[in-house]
Amino acid sequence: MAQHLIDVETIGVLTSGGDSPGMNAAVRAVVRTASRSNINVFGIRHGYFGLINEEIDKLDTHSVSNIIQRGGTMLKTARSEEFRTKEGRTKAAENLKKYNMDALVVIGGDGTFAGAHKLSEEHDINVVGIPATIDNDIIGTDETIGYDSALNTALDAIDKIRDTADAHERMFLVEVMGRDTGFIALETSIASGAEIALLPEELTHVDEVKKQLQTMLKEQRRSSLVVVAEGDETGGAIKLAERIKDDFSQYDMRVCILGHIQRGGAPTARDRVLASRLGASAVKVLREGHTDVMVGVVNNSIKITPMRVAISKKKEIDHTLVELAKLLR
Ligand code: F6P
Repeated sequence: MAQHLIDVETIGVLTSGGDSPGMNAAVRAVVRTASRSNINVFGIRHGYFGLINEEIDKLDTHSVSNIIQRGGTMLKTARSEEFRTKEGRTKAAENLKKYNMDALVVIGGDGTFAGAHKLSEEHDINVVGIPATIDNDIIGTDETIGYDSALNTALDAIDKIRDTADAHERMFLVEVMGRDTGFIALETSIASGAEIALLPEELTHVDEVKKQLQTMLKEQRRSSLVVVAEGDETGGAIKLAERIKDDFSQYDMRVCILGHIQRGGAPTARDRVLASRLGASAVKVLREGHTDVMVGVVNNSIKITPMRVAISKKKEIDHTLVELAKLLR
């Protein structure tokens, strides 16, 4: 039976919070899908900040040409303090009405979604979220846009560090992003064959880390890699190094913080496809009358999750992968 579609004439799209590779592909998919259904699209620059301050431009299919392969976001992004206030959200809602936008598509992480949910609750604005963050910490989708790209960027860097660690027979503590979640740390450690991974989700006992490294020394390992998520309770790679370096002076320890390099660069094919699917789906679900929801891909199918559920908790890491990392090190 054909689905009854509601009338959507004009929508807005923005990217907000930390950028992630593939955001551009998502913007492109939203704009092209909407345009092909004769829906007008406004691009809002600098996220919610731009919505409050009227940084709003018309977009058409040509405006989003030649961006699918680019990292960053053509719409720019920001973290807006004003939008956290009721007054800020009221201004944002007024601007949406001023431009006759029937709905808003927000591309970002949990902070972005929490803002959209409030906008929907307080001002009855139709919103749909597209999950995009390198942290991969959103429930309701197997992966977030940008995670696969960041993972591969970090892995490429860690492989290079392994070469020099091996050449000098050194120990490296490599810090990867993940303030609250250890997805990047866990999967890069498995993929790079790192000796140890330290994650925010697990208690880190520094004495235990030292013991494990001592055992590996006894196994005649000439170099070693410890991947540390920035949110690990030790406080990150620099702090950990201060606490263990004297015990491993024979390893001539070095620290490397990968930092924002993980957020940039061309999105992987997988992220471009995911972003394209989610961008097109966001417009489709709006036309089907859904609001205050996010779209995700679960088991290769599009899944719609209420925004209040999506922001209610962080996605958990897979503990079988934690065990696998330990087994194979
Ligand atoms: O977007 C998520 C993230 O990359 C986190 O992993 C990291 O802790 C944070 O953003 C860094 O944010 P900023 O760019 O504001 O320093």
